Amino acid sequence: MNGLSPYGPWAVITGASSGIGAAFAEQCAAGGVNVVLAARSTDRLAGLGRRLTDSHGVEHRLVTVDLTGAGGAADLLADTADLDVGLLVSNAGHGNPGRFLDQELTDLHRRLTLNTVSHLELAYGFGHRFVARGGGAMVLVAALGAAHGMPNMAHEGASKAYVHSLGVALHHELRGAGIKVTVMLPGNVDTPAIDRLGVDRASLPIRPLPAATAVRQTVRALRAGRSTVVPDRRLRALVRLTPGRVSVAMNGRMLGQAAANLARRKETVR
Ligand SMILES: NC(=O)c1ccc[n+]([C@@H]2O[C@H](COP(=O)([O-])OP(=O)(O)OC[C@H]3O[C@@H](n4cnc5c(N)ncnc54)[C@H](OP(=O)(O)O)[C@@H]3O)[C@@H](O)[C@H]2O)c1
Repeated sequence: MNGLSPYGPWAVITGASSGIGAAFAEQCAAGGVNVVLAARSTDRLAGLGRRLTDSHGVEHRLVTVDLTGAGGAADLLADTADLDVGLLVSNAGHGNPGRFLDQELTDLHRRLTLNTVSHLELAYGFGHRFVARGGGAMVLVAALGAAHGMPNMAHEGASKAYVHSLGVALHHELRGAGIKVTVMLPGNVDTPAIDRLGVDRASLPIRPLPAATAVRQTVRALRAGRSTVVPDRRLRALVRLTPGRVSVAMNGRMLGQAAANLARRKETVR
């Protein structure tokens, strides 16, 4: 038993093949909750699923799904229709640092589907199922600072602001139906995304927080009935001390640098 056990026998986790999603899967399994692991990388999901079943004795189901495509979330709902799911962790997300006008419009549309529409459809679908079963819980993963705008990741920031707003509203709206909703606002969680985005770890104001710690803090916030959580006390202090326009400019500079690092990496590979 742990903080994720009370909601039901099964949890659905998107983006479970890596980082924050994998850490949620690990903590669900440690609490005896069976897990549906959803993402595109079947091999990584299969390895994680085997390990969780071996270590914790839980059942697992793999759902290989691309949530940038119309119908991805519907497929996930259909593939879990026979399970008594009590917890949704809607976490899958992706972004590319760089200038807005340098990006392909078709890519922006695909990432909009992943970063907003998939959360919308999963919150809607599982919301109905949770009402029918008399309760449940959702963690929607957005991003710290998104609501204020993120230069050099403008599109991702805007899409995460949607998830943030949706989750806070649902926190209040679904409470009466026995459904808990918490929005996780990560800012510096140590996952493969940091390096993939081209972020120079030495330039970060504080050392990234292990994903398992960030998830434990989020689980505590969910249990305590909080609408949002920013994992990492050091980051919360930094946010309190830094005026909004300063942090927007700082994040913009860091992401601009990340985009330049990625471009250099591509040149070296050529
Ligand atoms: N780490 C941070 O500090 C931080 C900061 C701000 C926001 N976030 C948000 O936190 C969430 C988790 O990120 P992370 O840091 O754990 O990154 P990560 O390690 O790269 O994990 C991202 C997960 O999303 C899945 N995913 C990506 N594109 C997908 C698609 N088209 N369809 C289905 N699944 C897809 C990936 O799996 P596959 O590649 O196998 O599909 C992976 O499991 C994301 O929404 C991210 O935006 C994280």
